[in-house]
Amino acid sequence: MNKQRVLTGITTSGTPHLGNYAGAIRPAIAASRRDDVESFYFLADYHALVKVQDPARVQRSTLEIAASWLAAGLDPNTVWFYRQSDIPEIPELTWLLTCVASKGLLNRAHAYKASVDKNLADQLDPDAGITAGLFMYPVLMAADILMFNAHKVPVGRDQVQHIEMARDFAGRFNHLFGEHFVLPEAAIDDSVATLPGLDGRKMSKSYDNTIPMFAPPSELRKLIFSIVTDSRAPGEAKDTEGSALFQLYQAFASSEETLAMRAAFADGIGWGDAKQSLFEVIDRQAAPMREKYEALIAQPIEIEAVLREGAIKARKFSAPFLAKLRYAVGLRDLREAPTSMRDRTVAAKPAAMKPASFKQYREADGKFYFKLLDGDGKLLLQSIGYASARDAGQLIAQLKSGGDLRHEPQSGVHLGETLIGTLADNVDLTELTAALSTFAEENA
Ligand code: TRP
Repeated sequence: MNKQRVLTGITTSGTPHLGNYAGAIRPAIAASRRDDVESFYFLADYHALVKVQDPARVQRSTLEIAASWLAAGLDPNTVWFYRQSDIPEIPELTWLLTCVASKGLLNRAHAYKASVDKNLADQLDPDAGITAGLFMYPVLMAADILMFNAHKVPVGRDQVQHIEMARDFAGRFNHLFGEHFVLPEAAIDDSVATLPGLDGRKMSKSYDNTIPMFAPPSELRKLIFSIVTDSRAPGEAKDTEGSALFQLYQAFASSEETLAMRAAFADGIGWGDAKQSLFEVIDRQAAPMREKYEALIAQPIEIEAVLREGAIKARKFSAPFLAKLRYAVGLRDLREAPTSMRDRTVAAKPAAMKPASFKQYREADGKFYFKLLDGDGKLLLQSIGYASARDAGQLIAQLKSGGDLRHEPQSGVHLGETLIGTLADNVDLTELTAALSTFAEENA
C-alpha cells in the first residue's frame, strides 16, 4: 500500500530534445512500469511562462512534449500524466508556500542569482530585466512537488537546489500548521548522465545546442555531423574522456557496442565514421517513436483528451488536500467555531466541502442497504445487503467515526477485514475518505 511516489515535470518552453529523452523521459517511463511506485509526470507550462513570452510557442511545446511522452511509451492509465495549468490547486498552494518561504533563501537560488550577477558585471541595476516570476520559480516548483506529497523527484543536478528549497518550505509549513507535507528528496541517477549538446556543453534549450528528439533522419544526421570534435585525423588515437560524441553514443548504444566504440577510439576511428555510428544507434531508437509521434502530433484532440483525463485523476488528490491546507492555515468557513491555537496540528476537516450523507433503504430481496452520497448528491459508495437495518446502521456509524478503509479492485471496499460494498464509477478511496471526513465534526 505504501508506494513510493515519484514526480517530475518538463518545462514546455521548446522542442523536446535527446537530453530530455535520455535524462528524463526514458528513465521515468522505465520507473513507471514498476509496481511499487506511483508516478506523477506533468507538463510544467506555468514554468514555461517564466522564460517564454510567445504564446504560440508555449502551446506548440506543450503539444510536442505531451506527444513525446506518449510516443516514448508512457501509459496514461498506469500513471498520473497531466498539465500543470489544469490543476488550479497548484497556484493556490504556491501562495500558501510563498507566505512561509524565506526571501533570503530565494535570493540564493542559482538561476536568479546568476541573472543578478550578470547585471552587476554589466554595471546595471541588480534586478534589471528580472521578473518576479524568475524569483518565485522555486516556490512554484515546490508547490508542484508538495501538492502530491511526492517522495522522490528525479531531476538533473542543476535542479537539486530547488528540491532542497521545497524541503525547506515544507518543513516550515509543517512546523507552523501540522504535518501535512512529505519532505521530498531529489533522485539523481548517475547512470543517466546529463547529455552534452552539439558544442559539448550540457544539452539545453538555453545554449541552443540541442538535437531534437524527433528530427527527421536527414536533419538528425546533419546535426550529428555538426557535433564539435577535435582536429585529430583518422588513424590517430582519440580520447573518450570529455568527448561529447562518445557520451552521446554511450547513452543510446548497448554496453557491448559502447565497449567496441571505446576500442575504436583508441584505434583511431575517423570522426566521420564515429558520427555515422552515432547516427545509427540514435536513429534505431528514435525511428519507431518518431512514427508514433508524428501520428500523435496530427491528433491534438486526442492529446488534449488524455491531458484532461489526467487532470481529473490528479485533482482527486489535489482538491481534497488543498481543502485541508486551506483549513490548516485558517481559510475557513465562518460558521465554524474558531479553534484555539493548540488545535492547529489536529487533522483538519476540509472547510470547503459540503457534508456527505448516507441513505438507507430496503430492497425487494428483503435486505437492508445504504449508499454514501457526497455533498452534491453524487453516489460514492454502494453497500452490500444486510439482514437487518441495525447491521447496516452499525456500519454507517463505524464509517462516520473513521474506520480503516481499503479498496480491492476485485472485491470492493473493505472496512477492516469486512467487505462492505463497491465504489461508484470514477470514484476512488481518496474521494471516499474526503467525504467521510465531513462527518468528523459530527462525532467530535
Ligand atoms: N524546473 C524543472 C526544469 O527546468 C521543471 C520542473 C518544474 C520540475 N516543476 C518541477 C521538475 C517539479 C521536477 C519537479 O527542469
